[in-house]
Formats: sequence, C-alpha cells, structure tokens
Amino acid sequence: MIGIFDSGLGGLTVTKEILKQTPEYKIIYFGDTARLPYGTKQPDLIKSWSENNLDWLSQNGAEVLVIACHTASSWAYDYLREKIEKPLFEMVSPSVEIALNKTRSGRVGVIGTPGTIKSDIYSRKFASSPRIKLFQQACPLFVPMIEEGWINHLATREVAKEYLKPLIEAKIDTLILGCTHYPLLGDLIKDIIGPSVEIIDPAEALVLKIKDFFDKNSAIQNKIKKGNNHAFHFSAQPYNLELISRLCLDREIQGKIVKND
Ligand code: DGL
Repeated sequence: MIGIFDSGLGGLTVTKEILKQTPEYKIIYFGDTARLPYGTKQPDLIKSWSENNLDWLSQNGAEVLVIACHTASSWAYDYLREKIEKPLFEMVSPSVEIALNKTRSGRVGVIGTPGTIKSDIYSRKFASSPRIKLFQQACPLFVPMIEEGWINHLATREVAKEYLKPLIEAKIDTLILGCTHYPLLGDLIKDIIGPSVEIIDPAEALVLKIKDFFDKNSAIQNKIKKGNNHAFHFSAQPYNLELISRLCLDREIQGKIVKND
C-alpha cells in the first residue's frame, strides 16, 4: 500500500494525483484531524505528530510513505528521513525541481501556510541556484475558505487578490502552490495572476518522483499491495467530509476514526 498522511483532508488532492497516475496501488490514508491545522503549530509538535502518523501507516501495512502535508514536509522531513526505514516522499523538493526547469526569469513565488513559509525551506532548496529570486507569501485564510467550499466565492477572490498582490508586483513568472488545498484555487489564482505565470501543482511533481523511484526500484514496487479498496482513517471526525472529499478527490469517502498515539 502507498501510505499517505496529511494534517486532515487536503492530502486527498495529493491522493487524487497518485491514483490518477498510478491507479494500481492500494492507498492507506491517515488524516490527523484531531490536531489540525498544522499550518499554525510549532515545529517540535509537527515533527513528533508526523512521526506518530508515519509510524501508524507503517504499522498498518504501508510499504511506501508520502508526507502529503506541506507544513509537515517543510518541518519534519529532514528530521524523519533518518528514522523511517521505508521509502519516504515529501512535497517540497519535487516542486522546486520543476520550478527550476520552468522559470525563465528566475523570479519564483511560493504560497503556503504560515508554518511552511516560516520554515524557509524553499529558500534553502533554491540556495544552490543563485539565479533564482524567491518571493514567499503565507496565505492563512485560504485553507478555512476552501474547507467551507468557497472555491468560486467573491470573498475568496478578494482575499486571493490581496495575497497575490506582492507576487504580481514582484513580477514572478512561476508560482508553487505550496499547500495541499491550493490546487483547488488553481483556476482562480491563474485568473488573478495572469496567464504568463506558470503554476506548479506539487502533487504532479511528487508523482513524477514516485514513478521514477518505482522504475529504479522494481523490487520495492512489486512488493506494494495492489487494489482499489482504499482505506481512509482520521484521528477525529473530519469537518465537512462529504464536501471536501468531493472537492479534493472527486468522490465521497467513508472515514474510519482511529487512535494514532
Ligand atoms: N495540509 C496543510 C499543508 O499542506 C494545510 C492544512 C493545515 O494547516 O493543517 O500545509
């Protein structure tokens, strides 16, 4: 099974992309809804919660692990990669690689939760490419608005205009959507920021990495359990499960409540 963890339901956007491109593998998903949101929490908590969640997925049969949450990828991946013995994927590096290939002017923007932006992980990842000028913007209101289903809402458009203003002024030509939820605002963001800016969905970048890993590691690939009876688990009853799973995954899911610590 491919084990996917997120702070909540947003990781279903990543799940959707994994299922789209590698539909044969069974997914086991864990959303840490009891501790949501991660985007405003302190790094030491995010590290230990992420470890709990990955351990839970491992103990429940995942052969390959994905940290779908960008905030957890930003703060916890470096800490966890030594500790976790199974193949472990995160959301930041794959999108940075794509951005490096796409940008012509070198002016790259990143939007994310306050935690992701504060981690400064993107500056560190781009540091070896001096031609890149990075512009970062935290967008704390996006997640709650999306979780209300306000995708095409006037209020979301106004908020998005405000958040994107500094990036438009900075004349970026590439924008990384550095949060599980933001691909749902892809069309709105494109509309505001203009067609000349290349928008990068990190889930697409992640799946390229996973497929490349499978190509190079067929022994591991062959071991992964196949099937379409995917299993979704949460540490507390998720808010707006039907609506958000329809938005993120194009279908409603049944979630099972489990204890992960
Ligand atoms: N999943 C989080 C992320 O991608 C967003 C929601 C949260 O703050 O927990 O950063």
